[in-house]
Amino acid sequence: MQDILEQLEKKRAAARLGGGQKRIDAQHGKGKLTARERLELLLDEGTFEEWDMFVEHRCTDFGMADNKIPGDGVVTGYGMINGRLVFVFSQDFTVFGGALSEAHAEKICKVMDQAMKVGAPVIGLNDSGGARIQEGVASLGGYADVFQRTVMASGVIPQISMIMGPSAGGAVYSPAMTDFIFMVKDSAYMFVTGPEVVKTVTHEEVSAEELGGAITHTTKSGVADLAFENDVEALLMLRRLYNYLPLNNREKAPVRPSADPAGRMDLSLDTLVPENPNKPYDMKELIVKTVDDGDFFEIQPEYAKNIIIGFARMEGQSVGIVANQPLVLAGCLDIKSSIKAARFVRFCDAFNIPVITFVDVPGFMPGTSQEYGGIIKHG
Ligand code: HXC
Repeated sequence: MQDILEQLEKKRAAARLGGGQKRIDAQHGKGKLTARERLELLLDEGTFEEWDMFVEHRCTDFGMADNKIPGDGVVTGYGMINGRLVFVFSQDFTVFGGALSEAHAEKICKVMDQAMKVGAPVIGLNDSGGARIQEGVASLGGYADVFQRTVMASGVIPQISMIMGPSAGGAVYSPAMTDFIFMVKDSAYMFVTGPEVVKTVTHEEVSAEELGGAITHTTKSGVADLAFENDVEALLMLRRLYNYLPLNNREKAPVRPSADPAGRMDLSLDTLVPENPNKPYDMKELIVKTVDDGDFFEIQPEYAKNIIIGFARMEGQSVGIVANQPLVLAGCLDIKSSIKAARFVRFCDAFNIPVITFVDVPGFMPGTSQEYGGIIKHG
């Protein structure tokens, strides 16, 4: 018996070490935390229950039969954020670059299935080179299983992705279907094909940062919602967002009592909106002065700035805010801002979060680029 316990402890230690101390040091050298360190920060202390720590891949090609690491590149399980249940998976870049094998996908699917069963959100901490090349189509099949679950869970439980490393191929399609995508600056990239492939196919020369860095995706493509300076800031902000969301589409978002009285008067609101309609004003000031404690969690603040979206509280209840921003393009609605707001409203609708709309809009943005881009449909 003692023998078995020792063997188990040895295996546990191997799983905790992932790809080994050298690769952990390399991960730290890039300013990144390991998969387990990230979960420690994200979840309430001591609440993480790990599943499938000893799962290994089943690949025998390319010398993989002798190259197995318990856990197979993803740490999965459940825990609490501010006392509320959440299911998590955290990809371990130190193990085969966090690449997704068939067994790795099965671990992710298991937490997603359980999350759907009990009605709790799924948070994925993504740090992966995509499909595990050595496994070929078995790995692609694994992605199909994850994608299917993401689709089935859409609108039923909130799904959040945090991109914390260089993600390519399947590692970006999968988060793309979740409700919110956050990225870490300078260490996270998202692209369907990297700069080398781009150069070969289109002869464009572009750096990884320019092609798919956090700034690109939060300002140009709108793929990501928020960019953070480092892993620690990203995970703490994710904990903040979590407070606004219900566990599933049948539960209410948590109410956080506030000392800010509902009947509070703010006389500056009387003069904030100028009498002259041609004069702009900052709608964000109005939002901050209206909601509980001036606390507004803005989503996509750097993309399509002519519309503002985000979460706040009124009398302690979660609300979604949608507001035109007269400071940018006079608050006109264009394709990007329409898509941005519509997606957010869909999320709030699915999860019964009331939407408060502050309207001050001169109309749609005219022009050929808007018409050719399909403003009629998107708007
Ligand atoms: C197996 C992989 C891997 C992968 C990385 N590694 N990606 N192993 N499958 N997809 C391994 C590397 O061999 C290396 O192992 C370790 O992870 C770290 O990788 P590095 O290249 O040293 O790190 P870095 O320089 O930071 O570059 C990271 C990277 C690059 C940009 C992600 O590794 C990369 O381009 N990988 C391949 C990306 C890719 O083509 N993926 C498949 C996409 S297709 P050692 O042992 O040397 O430490 C796809 C299809 C989905 O996903 C379709 C869904 C329907």
